[in-house]
Amino acid sequence: MVSLTRISFAALLYAVLMHTAGSRVLELSDRFLDAHKDGQWLVMMYAPWCAHCKRLEPVWSHVAQHLHATPIRVGRVDCTRFTSITSAFKIKGFPTILFLKGDQKYIYEGDRTREEIVKFALRLSGPPVQEITKTQSFDLIKKERDLYFLYVGDRHGVLWELYHKTANIFQAHAFFYQSHPNVVNNHAPIDNIPALLVYKENLHYNFTGHNLSNLDQVNETLYKWVNAERFPTFPKVTRGNINQLFLTNKNLVLAVLEENQLEEVAPDMLEFRDMVESVIKNKRNKYHDHFQFGWIGSPNLVNSIAMMTLPIPSLLVINTTTNHHHIPEDETEKLTPYVIELFLEQIRNESAPRYGGNSWLVCGYRKWFEMKTVLISMWKGNPILMMVLLGLPFGFLSLICYGICCPDLLDAKDDEDENAGTYHMKND
Ligand SMILES: *[C@@H]1O[C@H](CO)[C@@H](O)[C@H](O)[C@H]1NC(C)=O
Ligand SMILES: *[C@@H]1O[C@H](CO)[C@@H](O)[C@H](O)[C@H]1NC(C)=O
Ligand SMILES: *[C@@H]1O[C@H](CO)[C@@H](O)[C@H](O)[C@H]1NC(C)=O
Ligand SMILES: *[C@@H]1O[C@H](CO)[C@@H](O)[C@H](O)[C@H]1NC(C)=O
Ligand SMILES: *[C@@H]1O[C@H](CO)[C@@H](O)[C@H](O)[C@H]1NC(C)=O
Repeated sequence: MVSLTRISFAALLYAVLMHTAGSRVLELSDRFLDAHKDGQWLVMMYAPWCAHCKRLEPVWSHVAQHLHATPIRVGRVDCTRFTSITSAFKIKGFPTILFLKGDQKYIYEGDRTREEIVKFALRLSGPPVQEITKTQSFDLIKKERDLYFLYVGDRHGVLWELYHKTANIFQAHAFFYQSHPNVVNNHAPIDNIPALLVYKENLHYNFTGHNLSNLDQVNETLYKWVNAERFPTFPKVTRGNINQLFLTNKNLVLAVLEENQLEEVAPDMLEFRDMVESVIKNKRNKYHDHFQFGWIGSPNLVNSIAMMTLPIPSLLVINTTTNHHHIPEDETEKLTPYVIELFLEQIRNESAPRYGGNSWLVCGYRKWFEMKTVLISMWKGNPILMMVLLGLPFGFLSLICYGICCPDLLDAKDDEDENAGTYHMKND
């Protein structure tokens, strides 16, 4: 008897928990148009028929759960039902993820993973620069934000003003903090106040462009420094972050690998990736100013830049200002840290051969290459569908031609059909 009550109690509890877990995402209606200016909102604009939206759904309820204890409310809007919202927020595609705070609107463009979306919302939730007031907070911050900027000093003065401005620009992309020397204690190496650092991979790096007698220049160097330092030393490059990486104006040095469905990489590719990573880890000072390293798990992303199917694994360097790319002359097996360094030297002194670029000829060829790739992959995925798709327009086209060229024949055929019909009728 007792055990039965217990079981039903557990079941009830489970049902309640499930319900609250499910209901943490608020289903919004067009009344949201009036409500959205109160507080902070993270909203997914979706359409029921959209497959990407369906894929995002489980991620979205995790996001809602993670942000449960914050002032950010997580909701979603069915844009096929509430078209007034679609037009008010100028939604162009599904799903669109928006962060709304008062009159401000930010569109999320990164990878649709729980971690990245949560970080995006948390960054925008507070002021551009958040203050750290307790020494203990550093442990948590270091653990949860693998990368952040830190200004140590008072909230006034030229460097502070510029830091604050820059933080405002990059708020959606990085965490910015401010603290005082006695709070920081020995969590960061500080000699002079004010100090500006970036924390990543358990290390601090200084901002050293401190010549305050030339303000315009400090503004520019600070902006460039933040723009370049907001990425880890060796990030995974994805559809979600590659556009941001292009903004660094550095050369992108990419280890091109292939992940399987479970995001696993074969051991030999891992070895290659680690070898490429070792180059930047060991020679950071030498290469950091001009090269951003990274690795890629889906070659399609860069095949269209290189306009060829790259061997896997392989190394590709992209000049993000001109869109030229460089490919080492040696095969992948012969690449060692030393060979890669020589290759990077050649890119620096512009003696390495370069391919591609942004001329209209290259762009045209790139479009053609992309179209070809899409068609080939569709063909491999589903030849029958492909035949129908290609066949349909062809069929229509021939029908139209037929109609234009021989209208009489078509009419005649119609007559024939009618006759045939009557014939059958009579037969019956
Ligand atoms: C950064 O600054 C701190 C204090 O000014 C100094 O001790 C440290 O050596 C600097 N680190 C680098 C990499 O310049
Ligand atoms: C700072 O900038 C001024 C003016 O551009 C220049 O004269 C001075 O040498 C610079 N100081 C340092 C330490 O670079
Ligand atoms: C600082 O630099 C940024 C980016 O180059 C620019 O948008 C901004 O207007 C500059 N601010 C000042 C005060 O010069
Ligand atoms: C990209 O190429 C241009 C033109 O060759 C060159 O001036 C620039 O320095 C290159 N960018 C990098 C980051 O090396
Ligand atoms: C460029 O660097 C490579 C590698 O260090 C060197 O062999 C080559 O002679 C250099 N070319 C020029 C034009 O300086």
